[in-house]
Amino acid sequence: MSSSTCSVLNGKALAQKIQGELKESIQQLQPKIGRPPGLAVLMVGDDPASAVYVRNKERACAKVGIASFGHHFPANTSQDELETVIQQLNLDPRVDGILVQLPLPAHLDAVGLLLTIDPEKDADGLHPMNLGRLVRGEPGLRSCTPAGVMGLLEEYQLDIAGKQAVVVGRSILVGKPLGLMLLEKNATVTMAHSRTQDLASVTRQGDILVAAVGKPEFITAEMVKPGAIVIDVGINRVVRPDGTSQLVGDVDFNSVANLAQYITPVPGGIGPMTVAMLLSNTVLSYRQRETK
Ligand SMILES: NC(=O)c1ccc[n+]([C@@H]2O[C@H](COP(=O)([O-])OP(=O)(O)OC[C@H]3O[C@@H](n4cnc5c(N)ncnc54)[C@H](OP(=O)(O)O)[C@@H]3O)[C@@H](O)[C@H]2O)c1
Repeated sequence: MSSSTCSVLNGKALAQKIQGELKESIQQLQPKIGRPPGLAVLMVGDDPASAVYVRNKERACAKVGIASFGHHFPANTSQDELETVIQQLNLDPRVDGILVQLPLPAHLDAVGLLLTIDPEKDADGLHPMNLGRLVRGEPGLRSCTPAGVMGLLEEYQLDIAGKQAVVVGRSILVGKPLGLMLLEKNATVTMAHSRTQDLASVTRQGDILVAAVGKPEFITAEMVKPGAIVIDVGINRVVRPDGTSQLVGDVDFNSVANLAQYITPVPGGIGPMTVAMLLSNTVLSYRQRETK
């Protein structure tokens, strides 16, 4: 298969379309409900990448009409202080979604904070209750990045049922929930990880190959089945030999695009879809809380 037959799955465009739809439904719901949806993003410390992500999320909220309740805490904030703020947000009727921006400073326990969030306000879909609902195939708030991958596959009407899906990476943030979502859509799923032997022979089985590894341009052409759908979740900043810095995924885009049928770009693929799913979860929680 040559590069001329490889299509790029445009996550940025789909994310914009979803945001347009969310904006419209908020405009319809707000007069009835009497307030906009609200999202609280908690950031601790000054990690520059996190600051960029938080800013992007808040900008996207403003664009669709979601109120932001941003909280920025100094790096030495205690676990107790954060848990108290989360408990207040759980009770705040203006807030439909709460998320804690990761990574956190080393003295903090991310799982403890996650467990403090009301599962019905868990905009990131990472609370064990929501992960449990996913395992059981029940409706609930779904984790944003894997939901973004599924949304993109659906938009392009790509067949999942009966296909071999290989997910490289088994994090609780991406790989594991995505494996479950692909299984829910009747793919035959293989989860690969750092202990997988002969990884290339495993990845070459994938009609759908997802890279969620965190290693720049790790998946090369030899690891990809010709005609595969290749989804690149990775976001890595690399410095090129000429000193310029660039964002790249976990897939070596140029070589893989020569034989894949579909591929997601970085940036402009799963990143914007993740933000769109966060907004979508917030609006879902808004609707559900107001129609109870
Ligand atoms: N697009 C987005 O919005 C978005 C959202 C979240 C994350 N990301 C990006 O996605 C990437 C993965 O994130 P993450 O949070 O899932 O990372 P993570 O928690 O570090 O997990 C990485 C996974 O990759 C596996 N792995 C590491 N080296 C490997 C190797 N040589 N061969 C096979 N598997 C290997 C690890 O295996 P073990 O379990 O065996 O250690 C682990 O399961 C990162 O680049 C991150 O920046 C993007």
